[in-house]
Amino acid sequence: MSEYYWDSKIEYLRNTRWLYYNDDYLEFLVKNVWKLNAPVNIVDYGCGYGYLGVKLLPLLPEGSTYTGIDKGEDLIKEAREVFDKLPYSAEFIQGDIDMFVHRQYDVAICHAFLLHMANPRMILQKMIDSVLDGGRVICFEPHWIANTANYGFDEIQHSEVVPLGILQKLYEESAKDSGKDGNIGMKLPIFLSQLGLRNVECRVSDKVNFLDQNMDAAEKDRLFQSLKEEGIGQELEDSVKVVEQLVQRGLSVEEAQAQYAAELKLFQVFDSDSWLTYAPNMKISFGTVSRE
Ligand SMILES: C[S@@+](CC[C@H](N)C(=O)[O-])C[C@H]1O[C@@H](n2cnc3c(N)ncnc32)[C@H](O)[C@@H]1O
Repeated sequence: MSEYYWDSKIEYLRNTRWLYYNDDYLEFLVKNVWKLNAPVNIVDYGCGYGYLGVKLLPLLPEGSTYTGIDKGEDLIKEAREVFDKLPYSAEFIQGDIDMFVHRQYDVAICHAFLLHMANPRMILQKMIDSVLDGGRVICFEPHWIANTANYGFDEIQHSEVVPLGILQKLYEESAKDSGKDGNIGMKLPIFLSQLGLRNVECRVSDKVNFLDQNMDAAEKDRLFQSLKEEGIGQELEDSVKVVEQLVQRGLSVEEAQAQYAAELKLFQVFDSDSWLTYAPNMKISFGTVSRE
């Protein structure tokens, strides 16, 4: 069995992607914003089990192809199994993103990938290099501070369970240290333009998840489980360990303890009988490759 971290996260990926976009919004992007009305060859960097391919290929003109690249052996195996059952032209390459990719695609995409890269500008350049002149680069990436600001509760005070100031510092300090930036979604328009792309734009994911106490019980349970997997009100490890890790990531001991207390409170008060609205606030940045 693979020991690669993301290979053990297939269920997490499966259970959380649906929280981010409504299908009609993806269709709106493909047809009205990107106007992809002729067949395109797409490459997906860090494709996982092929989530974006599954969502986008039914919306693209017949004749379009999808190539997924990922380091995870199990993920690529899963992706191949998923696409074996679908009528689309898809190919999967297992390997590190550092591998050479030819300039042959019309569109390079990624989803929740660049935030895990210590050198996102270099990877973006690679994505750009794999696209033909006039093609597009499209990045769906998170913006954690906007994400954490977008919880709505009924009787719980948002500030007691999500201390935004502390989180803002935590995300910034972690990014400074590791290069990996959970707020990268909001910076990508700048990076894309600085790397020479034209007509750079950015959109926000549309979905607001609503844990409605009046909704169908099975639907409510599915949503609640996915919200937990997403990290909302998750069970915590030992306080000493968590505080230590938070301090390593750049918080003072006092801030780390306050963050731990807030997370513990959310774990204690958030259950399937809670009211919650939650907008993940993914940012979708895109631009056109122009080498003239
Ligand atoms: C958060 S997951 C997102 C997967 C998929 N895009 C999705 O949204 O379902 C990040 C993915 O990036 C892949 N990844 C991370 N570093 C990589 C690298 N150096 N080369 C190739 N893939 C990598 C992981 O294997 C993982 O599948």
